Amino acid sequence: MKKLILVAGARPNFMKIAPLMHAFKGNKNIKPVLVHTGQHYDLKMSGQFFDELNIPLPDINLEVGSASHAVQTARIMEGFEKVCIDEKPDFVMVVGDVNSTAACTLVAAKMDDITTIHYEAGLRSRDRSMPEEINRLVTDAISDIFLTTSQDADENLLNEGVPKEKIFMVGNLMIDSLVANLEKAKTQPMEFQLLNRTQTITPLLWREAGGRGYGAMTFHRPNNVDNPQSLRKLVEIWGEISTKIPLVFPVHPRTYKNIQNFGLQQEIDKYENLYFIEPLGYLNFINLIKNAKFALTDSGGIQEETTYMNIPCLTVRPNTERPVTIWEGSNKLIKINEIETEIDLILQGKEKKGKTPKFWDGQTAERIVKIIENL
Ligand code: UD1
Repeated sequence: MKKLILVAGARPNFMKIAPLMHAFKGNKNIKPVLVHTGQHYDLKMSGQFFDELNIPLPDINLEVGSASHAVQTARIMEGFEKVCIDEKPDFVMVVGDVNSTAACTLVAAKMDDITTIHYEAGLRSRDRSMPEEINRLVTDAISDIFLTTSQDADENLLNEGVPKEKIFMVGNLMIDSLVANLEKAKTQPMEFQLLNRTQTITPLLWREAGGRGYGAMTFHRPNNVDNPQSLRKLVEIWGEISTKIPLVFPVHPRTYKNIQNFGLQQEIDKYENLYFIEPLGYLNFINLIKNAKFALTDSGGIQEETTYMNIPCLTVRPNTERPVTIWEGSNKLIKINEIETEIDLILQGKEKKGKTPKFWDGQTAERIVKIIENL
C-alpha cells in the first residue's frame, strides 16, 4: 500500500481536500495522511470547515499560526520536513496557492523517493505582486505531477516546458464540495449576528419578501485592504451601494483588523444596510452566495463557485488566474471605480450569464484517485 500525505493550511484549501479525503476512504492501494499546517487556526477560519465538510481530524497539525510570509513559510517547512522523515510518504499532494502549498512542495521535492502532486496547477494571474502567484510559480516549478482545473492551465504549463504526460485535466474539486453540499446548505438557519451592532439579520427573508434581495461581498486581498486609501475608497463605495441594495459582508480577519487600525468603523456605522458579520461556515456561505443578486469580491474561489451557480460575480482585481470564469462563466473583472456602474447594470437585469466549464461536475476527486493509483 502506498502512502500519500495530503496538505491543507488555509480556508480555501479545506473545500478542496474534503472530497479527496472522502474518495480515498477505504481505498486498498493508497493510504492518505492528512497534515494541517495550522496557517489558519480560528474556529471560524478552520475548525468549522472540518466539521461541516465532514473532514476527518488531521493526523498531524503543525500549528504554525500567523506570521510574516517568510516566518510562516519557514515554520511550515521546518515542521513538514520532520513529518516527511517520520512518515516516509510515496506522494505529497498540495492544493491551491497558499503559503502552505509552496512550503510543503519545497520540502518534499528535495527528498528522495517522494512524488509531489499539485492540484490546481498551471493557474497564472501573471501578477507577481500577489503572494499567491509567487506560490503558484514556485510550486509548479518543482512539482512532479500537475492536476489542472481548466484548459488554460494546461496551456500555461506546456508553455513553461512541463511535459504533456505529467499534466492531467481533472476538473474542479471546489465544485465537488459544492455539488455535495448545496442541498444541505439550503436547510441552514440563516440568521446572522452583526458585528458592532446588537441586531441580527436574515438575508433570505429579504429575498422572499419580494424585494431586491441583497448582494454578498468578500474582500481580503492585500492590494485592496492593506492600503488605507484604497480601503477607505472601498468603504465609501460599499456604503453608497448599500443605499440601493443591502450588502452582506462576512469579514475576513485581515480586513477587519485593517478597518479598526485605519479608523474606518465609524464610516461603516453610518450605513444602515451595510451588514458586517463574522466569517461564515461553509454551508452558510454557499447558501448566502446562492441566494444573492450578485457577489462582489476579490477572492479566487468565489469566482469559481459563482460560475457554477451562475450568479453574477464582480471581481475587483486587475487580473485573474481563473480566466475560464470570465470566458465561460458569470465573472467580470472590474476596477474600484467601476463597481457602482456594474452593480447598476445588474440591478437593471443586465447581468452577465455563463455556462459551466468542462469537468466541473462533482466527479473530480474520483478522477484524481484513479490517476494517483496508476502513477
Ligand atoms: C490566505 C492566503 C490567500 C487566501 C486566504 C483565504 C497566502 C499567501 N494567502 O490569506 O491566498 O485567499 O488565506 O482566507 O497563503 N488570521 C486570523 N485567524 C486565522 C487566520 C488568519 O485571525 O485563522 C489573521 C492573521 O492574524 C493575519 C491575517 O488574518 O493577520 C491574514 O492571515 P494569513 O493566513 O497570513 O493570510 P490571508 O490573508 O488569510
